[in-house]
Amino acid sequence: MDQLLKNKVSIITGGCSGMGKAGVELFTKSGSQVIIADINEEAGIYLENILRKQKLKVDFIKTDVTDTKNVQNTINEVVNRFGKIDVLFHNAVDVPLVNNHDKRITELPEEIWHKITTLIVDGTFYISKYVGQQMLKQKSGSIILTATTDALIGQAGLDAYTASKGAIISLTRSMAAGLSPEGIRVNAICPGFVETPHQMNFMNDPKIRKELEDLHLMGILQPEDIAEFALFLASDKSLRITGAIHAVDSGYTAFKGKMDLFDQITS
Ligand SMILES: NC(=O)c1ccc[n+]([C@@H]2O[C@H](COP(=O)([O-])OP(=O)(O)OC[C@H]3O[C@@H](n4cnc5c(N)ncnc54)[C@H](O)[C@@H]3O)[C@@H](O)[C@H]2O)c1
Repeated sequence: MDQLLKNKVSIITGGCSGMGKAGVELFTKSGSQVIIADINEEAGIYLENILRKQKLKVDFIKTDVTDTKNVQNTINEVVNRFGKIDVLFHNAVDVPLVNNHDKRITELPEEIWHKITTLIVDGTFYISKYVGQQMLKQKSGSIILTATTDALIGQAGLDAYTASKGAIISLTRSMAAGLSPEGIRVNAICPGFVETPHQMNFMNDPKIRKELEDLHLMGILQPEDIAEFALFLASDKSLRITGAIHAVDSGYTAFKGKMDLFDQITS
């Protein structure tokens, strides 16, 4: 495999599952030292062991992105062990919290709003701030934030999630503008629906699956599709790309959905 990330040090939040895990696997195989920063200790140690058996460079550091002190300790630990941070690929989100408790605004409990915005907005602030401070010292780095197509088009019933991810999209642009003079790039990826473990609860429903298949022009996404694009953004192949919001969505945001009536008229 191409060693696109040879000699690089990458932190991947949410690296125990879904897109983060696919990123850990791909980035290690691409030559990077990878730090899995995730709240799930059992899964983190398990993944670390598996990849180390393959002689890949990986360290798990238990991290709760909503806890600023914990985030600062993780960053200090990474710099002590490896001397630098080249890449942040930030995915951490409590997907069951969002899928099971987010609501349209009129039914959304304040407590859930605060939990989701804390996790996504504050969590992104803490990890980006302290990784960014280290990258400023180095005058280089690539920050990749995972947003969602749900923040580019509406998604009924996910008002705390879409508002939070919308903030990530805005933050991507202003961070890129602010940090670019010192060699740091910032990009956001907006995935469409991705077959990750927690999404399978509803994506296995035949009716929902059919609808999602119609909406994703090139097939429903796999975690590896997102990891491949993150690898490109992490690598020196994308040195002139910053401040951009990349829909990696199998065409999901390219059109208005299936219009049966229109199909009948044109056929
Ligand atoms: N799966 C999709 O269809 C989809 C679509 C668009 C965007 N996204 C976004 O992509 C990202 C990854 O989603 P996924 O489906 O791969 O998720 P996932 O549920 O498979 O993995 C999320 C990981 O984050 C970790 N985590 C949760 N809370 C944390 C915390 N406070 N601190 C550190 N780690 C924490 C979990 O332990 C888990 O390992 C998320 O930001 C999600 O919002 C997902």
